Amino acid sequence: MIKKEIENLLNKAAFKAGYGEVDLTISFSSLPEVCDFQCNGCFALAKKLGVNPVEMAENIVKNIENTQDYDFFVVKAFINVKLTDEKFSKIGQVYATDERGGLAKHKTSQFVILDYGGANVAKALHVGHLRPAIIGESLKRLYKLMGDRVISDVHLGDWGLQMGLTELQLFEDGKLDGYFGKGKNKSLTIDDLNEAYPKASARKDKEEGFKEKAEEWTLKIQHKESPYYEVYQTIRELSVKEIEANYSKLGAKFDLWYGESTADEYCPEAIKQIKAKGLLKESEGALVVEVAKEGENVPTTDKNGQVKYLNPMPPCLIQKSNGAALYATTDIATILMRNKLYKNVDRIEYVTDARQKLHFNQVFRVCKMSGISPENQQLIHIVNGTMNGRDGKPFKTRSGDTIKLEDIIAMLATKAEEKLKANGVDGEEDMALKIGVGAMKFGDLINNVSKDYVFDIDKFMAFEGKTGPYIQYTVVRINSILNKVNMPAGKINVATEEERGIIRAILKLNSSYEICYDEKSLNGLCSATYDLASAFSTFYNNFNVLNEKNQERKAGYIALLSLVKKKLLQALDVLAIEVPDKM
Ligand code: ARG
Repeated sequence: MIKKEIENLLNKAAFKAGYGEVDLTISFSSLPEVCDFQCNGCFALAKKLGVNPVEMAENIVKNIENTQDYDFFVVKAFINVKLTDEKFSKIGQVYATDERGGLAKHKTSQFVILDYGGANVAKALHVGHLRPAIIGESLKRLYKLMGDRVISDVHLGDWGLQMGLTELQLFEDGKLDGYFGKGKNKSLTIDDLNEAYPKASARKDKEEGFKEKAEEWTLKIQHKESPYYEVYQTIRELSVKEIEANYSKLGAKFDLWYGESTADEYCPEAIKQIKAKGLLKESEGALVVEVAKEGENVPTTDKNGQVKYLNPMPPCLIQKSNGAALYATTDIATILMRNKLYKNVDRIEYVTDARQKLHFNQVFRVCKMSGISPENQQLIHIVNGTMNGRDGKPFKTRSGDTIKLEDIIAMLATKAEEKLKANGVDGEEDMALKIGVGAMKFGDLINNVSKDYVFDIDKFMAFEGKTGPYIQYTVVRINSILNKVNMPAGKINVATEEERGIIRAILKLNSSYEICYDEKSLNGLCSATYDLASAFSTFYNNFNVLNEKNQERKAGYIALLSLVKKKLLQALDVLAIEVPDKM
């Protein structure tokens, strides 16, 4: 709001100076030792009006009404703005007593459904599910903090071939005898599942006829035949328990545990609606919707006579020739379901990696063309970059296998435990998990959502620098000071560059939420949080809070520290990073 306040002063002054109704804006200064904000707008505005930019800047500054709180001065045609210490103190004091620390909510609230799980039943969560879980959870928290109503849906992959594969394998291993009338044993375990799927998956590519048989089993499950469907329900239940436990270690919590199977009952209606719009076409026994727009999927023949497609946008497959539902169908039906269960959903957002770009593009188009998604509803695919190993390729185990999410979490916790030990802190398991996961999350979220990054556990886990542990450590440090002083907080009284630095960092932090909201990426919030922690460190290294003799000043420091803590915790809560008791 400070920014708006200053801009209003400038624009009023410009009007008074005879430049008419203008819209000058300011930004944080890149040279805080010179000024806090700067306005670069006079260059363009002067050009437009055909006047001298330096004169214009000077005229505006001369006409500014209230200069009590600010010091305005012109350098070239830049208008620089410096906040007075009194203004900084006032801001600090207002933020100290405000529950949100000066962070404004949006005026209007949106209703958002966020789909960022994507775990597959009967398959272990793997590294590919890590980024969507981390990013999605934080976006959910950010949207909520800014005033949106958000519902998160895990959207389980629970209706595909892996079901048939797993069941068939379990059957052949004699694990389903009880279900198929041979004896009474119906005691499937999660270990049975974890063993069965990889085995079946390997057989599918090697063994003739296995995949076809698994497809038959899948269809039986989808048609809810007994006992196939009963076994499926057991598998789903077992799986969900394990998936939930893993997500919860990451701090990811879902409101809805729906999945492809939940959407199944909405498939016929979705297909009916698509058909009613005349969009459904038959193609080799299957049903498709042509979704290409002009200039897309244009057939061309190369010099070998091969047909190639320019700007490929193949038709969206809605139903296979054997009647089975497809991945796209369940996603389309899910959008239909969401619009039936909830009214006025403004946005439906998905977080996955780039491999699903085409899929969502097709699904979104079908939903818009058929009216399954109302015109004013935004369907958004947030594409996350991949987490790579040091070799620059997607992160894998040493033997080249996909790495399980569980193993990554364990690796992070072990590393954190070592660090704690080295610091002489007896590592409790829970603390190590908070630090390990916190390090991972910060290491992830500090990158723009769409960029790839390298999983560098040593870098992520460092207690100094732009890392999760550094921010956690800052809070631990503030807590320990606040625990030692036994006097109540006083009034924030900014008198030094170090204190100005802290309030300035808080102003920037507050403004970063809006940027992150618009960009759907949390990197700006991570950087601004680090900058605040770092401004606090500078202050803390130069002032001895505990030994301050002047009691009024000391009480002011306590208020300042409490404010920093509040702002760091608010940011960490959005990043879903918890703070350990000790480090
Ligand atoms: N289950 C999918 C996978 O593991 C991801 C699901 C993403 N969400 C969706 N609504 N399609 O690749």
